[in-house]
Amino acid sequence: MGGILEGKRILVAGVTMDSSIGFATAKVAQEQGATVLISNFGRALGITRRIARRLPVEPPVLELDVTDEEHLAGLADQVREHLGPDAGLDGVVHSIAYGNPETLLGGKFLTGPWPDVAQAVQVSAYSLMSLTQACRPLMPGGGSVVGLTFDATVAWPAYDWMGVAKAGLESCSRYLARDLGPEGIRVNLVSAGPLKTLAAKAIPGFEDLEAMWSDRSPLGWDNTDQTPTAKAVCALLSDFFPATTGEIVHVDGGFHAMGA
Ligand SMILES: NC(=O)c1ccc[n+]([C@@H]2O[C@H](COP(=O)([O-])OP(=O)(O)OC[C@H]3O[C@@H](n4cnc5c(N)ncnc54)[C@H](O)[C@@H]3O)[C@@H](O)[C@H]2O)c1
Repeated sequence: MGGILEGKRILVAGVTMDSSIGFATAKVAQEQGATVLISNFGRALGITRRIARRLPVEPPVLELDVTDEEHLAGLADQVREHLGPDAGLDGVVHSIAYGNPETLLGGKFLTGPWPDVAQAVQVSAYSLMSLTQACRPLMPGGGSVVGLTFDATVAWPAYDWMGVAKAGLESCSRYLARDLGPEGIRVNLVSAGPLKTLAAKAIPGFEDLEAMWSDRSPLGWDNTDQTPTAKAVCALLSDFFPATTGEIVHVDGGFHAMGA
């Protein structure tokens, strides 16, 4: 029996470790029948190439720093090199965020310096637009773009300027949904609960959030299991959400719906 992504070609941007949400997404996507490409940037690229071998099918690894205009401009050609000159994409996963933990996170909100805030917003929010634009020529008949957020409707301990960047990401996804809907491109986010990944470990004090999450979530919460989040991303990439865009799907054990 075919999976829900049978025949689809998906780019997952932001895979470093096998703990990365992007890794779990690539795995579930392959299990569901997709042809997957993954990408990462800079020094972490070497780790990505090694980790790629742990996926059911070793995917091509592309170099993409979302702050590098040349990388963005060359992305469509990189994809075509691997998938064929006439090939396109059916889906793109944005699983990318960065904020300097020393200056912006873990109680540094009131002193966050602008150049670091600008970098966090560029890498974590603006890049949803620039990555989508870079992939747009590959999706002439429509497609699905999915990003990852951490609920930006409230203030959290420790999350600080990354929370502001996520608020920007959430808004960015709605404007993209507005502008690309007429082309059949859907843009949605998955709002995940705290997961033990490289990015989360870099946030001083984030582990305090993790402990109370499992207590307060009606379904409980396993912060070492990236699969529920990956499955939701894959569902949004599939044809099972054809009339959904500008949406944020919570995959958090139900935490967001509880008052106390
Ligand atoms: N871990 C959590 O608790 C959690 C919760 C909700 C949402 N998220 C979001 O999920 C997404 C994936 O994060 P993760 O937790 O899997 O951590 P991760 O560290 O495994 O993934 C983040 C990825 O972003 C990449 N990246 C950073 N700067 C980049 C740049 N300039 N260009 C290209 N790639 C760049 C990193 O190399 C890395 O692969 C992020 O958007 C994160 O904010 C994470």
